[in-house]
Amino acid sequence: MDKCRIGIAGLGRLGKVHARNIAFRIRGAELKAACSIVPEELDFAKSELGVTNVYSDYRKMLAEADIDAVCVVTTSKEHCWQIEAALDSGKHVFSEKPLGVDLAQCKQAEAAVERHPDLTFMLGFMRRYDKSYSYAKKLIDSGRIGTPYMVKATGIDPESAVQGAIRFAKNSGGIFLDMAIHDIDLCRWFLNSEAVEVYAAGATFKHPEFKEAYDDETGAAMYRFANGALAMVHVGRTAPYGYHVETEIIGTEGTVRISAVPAKNLAEVYGHDGVLTECVGSFPERFDDAYLTEMEEFVDCVLNGKKPGVSVYDGTKSTAIAYATTEAWKTGKAVRIE
Ligand SMILES: NC(=O)c1ccc[n+]([C@@H]2O[C@H](COP(=O)([O-])OP(=O)(O)OC[C@H]3O[C@@H](n4cnc5c(N)ncnc54)[C@H](O)[C@@H]3O)[C@@H](O)[C@H]2O)c1
Repeated sequence: MDKCRIGIAGLGRLGKVHARNIAFRIRGAELKAACSIVPEELDFAKSELGVTNVYSDYRKMLAEADIDAVCVVTTSKEHCWQIEAALDSGKHVFSEKPLGVDLAQCKQAEAAVERHPDLTFMLGFMRRYDKSYSYAKKLIDSGRIGTPYMVKATGIDPESAVQGAIRFAKNSGGIFLDMAIHDIDLCRWFLNSEAVEVYAAGATFKHPEFKEAYDDETGAAMYRFANGALAMVHVGRTAPYGYHVETEIIGTEGTVRISAVPAKNLAEVYGHDGVLTECVGSFPERFDDAYLTEMEEFVDCVLNGKKPGVSVYDGTKSTAIAYATTEAWKTGKAVRIE
């Protein structure tokens, strides 16, 4: 195989990013088919991506399209059955996070991956493919900061997007399942250990609609890991200045900080308000390179039989930790993670 022919399922906010990367930016990939339950998105596939082979029925795409692989970027609750159906029909699969919305679903996806060891499965924890995060991981693994014993992670969405988050709140599974999963994955990755205990709390000061949906606009969680290390995760919906993703890994011999100021770029603007660093505005802007690099890795794995850096088990473990965090937040009690 010299080209990986891909069908994409889901052409919403993130689906469009992956679709453009597959169609126009990856030499070994070809976007052959697209599936969405939104008719306008299928028009988009035809007019903007040049894909004529479009479907509103996912199983029909699997049965009829001339594809080697599927890229699943649908609503989270659809991921696991779509992963299983694709693998069982002989297709390689890239799936967006979260793997599933409950552990039973995640186990169903794990079993399907195990049934097909000859097919590639990769989960989209794209932060691992961001240049700064992958550099930090190399530094840590080389011993540069000694033994890492704490991670402090912040992920706050721009307030400009808060109305969408409010609309979605009732079905999001709560702020920790929806938002903290990237940070949880990074903590596991950097500390090279699994979380065994969590305490969590939430707060709402600006948008009472979150409380009405039994959610919170801000969440804070503290974890203890099996190797004794600690992690603190702060997630939120109301950054007035843009998209704030920041991570600090502290070790016995030093610290690595990633985007301590979530700057748009290296430009500083001198004006009447002083000297300003503009903030990055959204996840597609901040992680543009990472979305491309992770998809390049997926295609490389399919074409050359390599194993991807993010497995189905990373998906199950991060979901289990996010569930325990949600339970801790709801009960106000520390929760042991099995
Ligand atoms: N890695 C990241 O940084 C990141 C960022 C945003 C979203 N996501 C994940 O990506 C996924 C999509 O998020 P989004 O923001 O693009 O959502 P969205 O609501 O904008 O789009 C959802 C898409 O799924 C499609 N869909 C839903 N059910 C379907 C079905 N049964 N068959 C075919 N298509 C179906 C819809 O037609 C739509 O195209 C979610 O799982 C989300 O968690 C990941």
